[in-house]
Amino acid sequence: MQHVVISGTGVFTPPEVITNAELVEAFNAYADKQNAIHADEISAGTREPMAHSSEEFIFKASGIERRHVMDKSGVLDPDVMHPNLRQRDDDEQGIMTEMAVAAAREAMEKAGVSADQVGAVICAASNHERAYPAIAIEIQDALGIAGFGFDMNVACSSATFGIQAAADMIRSGSTDCILMVNPEICSGHLEWRDRDCHFIFGDVCTAVVLQEKSRATSQTQFEILSTRCLTQFSNNIRNNNGFLRRSRPSGVQDQRDMQFMQNGRQVFKQVVPIVSDMVVQHCADEGVDPTKLDRMWLHQANKSMNDFIGRKVLGRVPELTEQPNILQEYANTSSAGSIIAFAQNSDDLPVNAMGIICSFGAGYSVGNVIVKRVA
Ligand code: COA
Repeated sequence: MQHVVISGTGVFTPPEVITNAELVEAFNAYADKQNAIHADEISAGTREPMAHSSEEFIFKASGIERRHVMDKSGVLDPDVMHPNLRQRDDDEQGIMTEMAVAAAREAMEKAGVSADQVGAVICAASNHERAYPAIAIEIQDALGIAGFGFDMNVACSSATFGIQAAADMIRSGSTDCILMVNPEICSGHLEWRDRDCHFIFGDVCTAVVLQEKSRATSQTQFEILSTRCLTQFSNNIRNNNGFLRRSRPSGVQDQRDMQFMQNGRQVFKQVVPIVSDMVVQHCADEGVDPTKLDRMWLHQANKSMNDFIGRKVLGRVPELTEQPNILQEYANTSSAGSIIAFAQNSDDLPVNAMGIICSFGAGYSVGNVIVKRVA
């Protein structure tokens, strides 16, 4: 069986930033407008007024300080409250491809691979801008890559599941080099008018180059020692948007379920034990002492959740460097979060250092990738 390494990573960070202060100001202006529109119902007691959001709550509940987005003008306009992302014409490059190409170029440069060395492209993300043709094939075309490409979606675990799929294909000889990208435009499926979740997400794209070990030449290489994926059905994180959305009974006005919905408390309670048990068991099965892991690059949804998982796996409070957070800068970027953490916090590790990339989210889905620095 072939051995597989991650030989390059790339992160495309959208230049536009929304701070918690800007976000809260826009949300509160929207709430005030709604309360003014519905003043009669509110004073008659037939409608609850919309409550204000607060910066303090957001930071305390999530650890998020700001987020990058593809368009802030619409999100911060109390009369719009969603990103102004134009539907592109069929003969223009798609927005996900544009983000993916930027991240991919960085990853390929770090890996030292050219387009003709890449045999396949996987576009793994929680939402795709169209049904078909696959975004991965457009990316493949834009980069001049031969071979094949396909899209996959496992929500927040798309990237780790994508790494497992790529590693398995390289091990079995389908190809010896795969580009796996995660363009996440979370701002497009977040309900910015919902106080309970309006602060959660940001946009980004990550890219990972995976190669058969003997072919890799880059200065920094992490061998994939083992992967493990798990799914367990839950409705606690759900988005009903899909191609049947127009077949709703006429007169149904409420479209809230066409965006991200979650029962955040249940997610917190149920997912933490599943993830920490899975990391500990996976390590044990591979003969790795989980308390000796040099680094954990966890999914970035919520800081307290990550602190909890880190404590359970390591058996002590992790040092900041052992379990890097990027939430404060990016917010939750769905599947890309653990890959940003890995891309930005792995170069300093010495050869033979071991770590785990771990994602979790809707499905529920959990994905582990145990890696060891080999170059
Ligand atoms: N500003 C101010 N107050 C807010 C608020 C906001 N933006 N949003 C909610 N509140 C209020 C709530 O109404 C509630 O008030 P109450 O106590 O009077 O009812 C209070 O703050 C606490 O809200 P709650 O939802 O219980 O907060 P929490 O501490 O459980 O944190 C989450 C909420 C969503 C951040 C947290 O549950 C979480 O992160 N869960 C996991 C989410 C996750 O990982 N999802 C995966 C997505 S891919």
